[in-house]
Amino acid sequence: LNEGLSVIFIVCVEGHLKTIVQAYLDLFCLSQEKLRQVSGQLKKDMVRGLGKHTHHKAPVKMLPSFVRATPDGTEKGDFLALDLGGTNFRVLHVRVVEDLQKVLKMDSQICAIPKEMMLGTGQQLFDHIAKCLSDFLVSQDLKGQTLPLGFTFSFPCEQKEIDKSILIRWTKGFNCSGVEGEDVVKLLKEAIHRRGDFDIGSVAMVNDTVGTMMSCGYRDQSCEIGMIIGTGTNACYMEEMKNVKRVEGEDGRMCINTEWGGFGDDGSLRGIQTEFDLEVDKTSINPGVHTFEKMISGMYLGEIVRLLLLKLTEDKLLFEGQTSETLRTPESFLTKFISEVEDELSEEGKQPILSQLNLKWNEVDAHVVRLVCDTVSSRSARLCAAALAAIANHMRVSRKLDRLKTTVGVDGTVYRKHPNFSEELQETVRLLAPKCDITFLVSEDGSGKGAAMVTAVAQRLSDGYCH
Ligand code: GLC
Repeated sequence: LNEGLSVIFIVCVEGHLKTIVQAYLDLFCLSQEKLRQVSGQLKKDMVRGLGKHTHHKAPVKMLPSFVRATPDGTEKGDFLALDLGGTNFRVLHVRVVEDLQKVLKMDSQICAIPKEMMLGTGQQLFDHIAKCLSDFLVSQDLKGQTLPLGFTFSFPCEQKEIDKSILIRWTKGFNCSGVEGEDVVKLLKEAIHRRGDFDIGSVAMVNDTVGTMMSCGYRDQSCEIGMIIGTGTNACYMEEMKNVKRVEGEDGRMCINTEWGGFGDDGSLRGIQTEFDLEVDKTSINPGVHTFEKMISGMYLGEIVRLLLLKLTEDKLLFEGQTSETLRTPESFLTKFISEVEDELSEEGKQPILSQLNLKWNEVDAHVVRLVCDTVSSRSARLCAAALAAIANHMRVSRKLDRLKTTVGVDGTVYRKHPNFSEELQETVRLLAPKCDITFLVSEDGSGKGAAMVTAVAQRLSDGYCH
């Protein structure tokens, strides 16, 4: 009998708690109507970003990438690639083989970038990059060759040409001095010259979204959108040149790096930001910027969950009102914990995480924690879907099509690792862009192979031009 009573007690307590907890979680639940508004607002902001006279004040930067074509399968050659701005800094040697229609990663090396360096001087950072490149060339026996290099630099850059790229501002965890407003290719070349022990061929600068689109483009030629949901979030797509008002020419298309992470920086998302989002922004190294990204990407999701758990505990709705030193420590709830907590298959998975945070928890707590994780990750997926729908709808309308059939190349730890993120995103896009048939293709190393691909396509186009 006792056992039965305690079950009933848990159920009642759970029910009661749920109602109060739900009030907090409701702040994160966005109706379809709200998502439509978000999508519509982004569509307007995209047009502002593309406009000659509206661009400078636009929160969504819509940066021309100078990538004018997706792969056609005739590209070939050996390339070096650098990948900075995701989870790791990497150097790669990539071979594009025409006959096999394949991009082969010959070898790659991860080079750690210490946190102090992410916040140090630009010169230190680029000297470190040049050193990693030099070590890699030695280890691959490539020293003495001057290979073309694709540089995946996953930050907002005003690109003047494929090999001239001015950093607008750092995002995510980086804040090196003396780089904003400078040409990144020049800084890299200067660092290589300072060493004087090797040289590189032509350089192509690539945002990771563009690399992702291009790496998928080799497998599926209708891939005209690239999307990242990882440490940061962003997307690019092939835009009609006539709409790209800041670049001369009316014909053909150009890939636009939207930098949708900056959506809301003018306050347009204020209505859906919760007190937890505001707190995450306030305590970040770049308050007031990349508002949308801070509601979505891996760098911030864990922190949003932590702040919510802390609040619920302080309100005595969790862990018998007892927080822990760890839970009070910023960034202690890693974004990957969200996936682990939500993973259906690892019921056990909840215990180590909560215990790791030095919390005393019971079954009801575990249930609430799961609800919190689910709510925060689901909002992220739905917001991404609203943004992607804005791009797809815009492409359909500007191409004057009744239906748009397109493929999105996707990458990023959140999209790849979370148990139901991709499903929720895809389902929501279908609702918000009913006239678009969208296929999703997870990129295979877009930042590495994609950078090589962009360099290869640029070479193909310039070869054609010369002959
Ligand atoms: C940040 C960067 C953007 C990048 C994205 C994903 O939003 O500003 O350039 O594409 O992160 O890595």
